[in-house]
Amino acid sequence: MPNAPDPSADLEIIKRRKKEGIDIPLHKDVQAKSASTHLEDVKFVHNALPELNYDDIDTSVRFLGHKFSAPIIIDSMTGGTPEATEINSRLGILAERYGLGMGLGSQRAGLQSPDLADTYSVARKNAPNAFLIANIGGAQLAKGLTVDDTRKILKMIGANALVIHLNPLQELIQPEGEPKYRGVLQKISELVNSLDVPVMVKEVGSGISREVAIKLEQVGVSAINVAGTGGTSWAGVEKLRAETLKDKVKIRLGEIFWDWGIPTAASLIEVKKAVSNMPLIASGGLRNGLEVAKCIALGADMCGMAYPFLRKAAESEENLFEFANMITAELKSTMFLVGAKNIKDLKSSRYILTGYLADGANSQ
Ligand SMILES: Cc1cc2nc3c(=O)[nH]c(=O)nc-3n(C[C@H](O)[C@H](O)[C@H](O)COP(=O)(O)O)c2cc1C
Repeated sequence: MPNAPDPSADLEIIKRRKKEGIDIPLHKDVQAKSASTHLEDVKFVHNALPELNYDDIDTSVRFLGHKFSAPIIIDSMTGGTPEATEINSRLGILAERYGLGMGLGSQRAGLQSPDLADTYSVARKNAPNAFLIANIGGAQLAKGLTVDDTRKILKMIGANALVIHLNPLQELIQPEGEPKYRGVLQKISELVNSLDVPVMVKEVGSGISREVAIKLEQVGVSAINVAGTGGTSWAGVEKLRAETLKDKVKIRLGEIFWDWGIPTAASLIEVKKAVSNMPLIASGGLRNGLEVAKCIALGADMCGMAYPFLRKAAESEENLFEFANMITAELKSTMFLVGAKNIKDLKSSRYILTGYLADGANSQ
């Protein structure tokens, strides 16, 4: 008779994977290789007569009924391993002090082991008023995660919203991945109809296409985070994990699909066109405030960054705050140079698309 599955062994695997999920992006280069966000193909038109003072610029914004001091979200990252506690603690302090949003990492581990719940809830402890986003994977939904489980995940961090991450590429390359996506849309629809917080959907670095955005709009999701290509590569992270396990097929898949996906700027443009009333978050490879401003002009309501916040949070609280100050200064400087007094003005500021983005032949 086969042995019954051992839940504690399963949990140990998840904890190890979560630790590697922080260590690999921090200590190895798993950023896009030849792929790019293509935000370099977006050029603002300079305004030599802005008719406003820098100090009068207002970066605040409302999103899903919440006020943020800038259109910036610390994108979903971690939890589920003791190493995550300090990172989520620092990110929580930043979110609270700077009025930013914050996503937690996939919370399956916290659900399986209440001992690990603190590695996530430390963010809420430090950020009593911030907009915190609970996180679960589409693959977990397909596997049978229930509405009740999801309620526990929301409660774990006193969440203001839930985001479901779609990561078919990662599931494919992850040595213990489960590339089973049949039934995910139906499950998303059930959650939208059952939960009393907004349900959002995000990718993890391969982007959202217009076809997917339309399906998500049809089931009533509250917002989409395009999480496009050009930043952290999860094919890259899983390829490095596969190397340790000497899994030759996954190593090769990881190499070939390292840069797979829709560049962030291209994904944002096509999703905005397809579902123009859907609240949108742009993320995937955003690294400075100028890129944040470009995404807002392209139609995003908010912008997410993951890896840059992880790196700074791992260094020190001081470096993390300094980074947030820099991003804000870059965003405000861009607004000054295009003459945008607030985010509403920035949304209608003029830009030119060049290169890949201007090439109509790329889209059919
Ligand atoms: C260390 C790390 C852990 C991540 N874990 C998750 C996760 O648990 N759930 C999720 O939805 N996305 C996760 N992501 C993906 C990010 O939210 C984001 O979509 C992606 O990294 C692209 O953004 P970036 O280029 O700014 O890193 C993670 C990213 C990093 C860097």
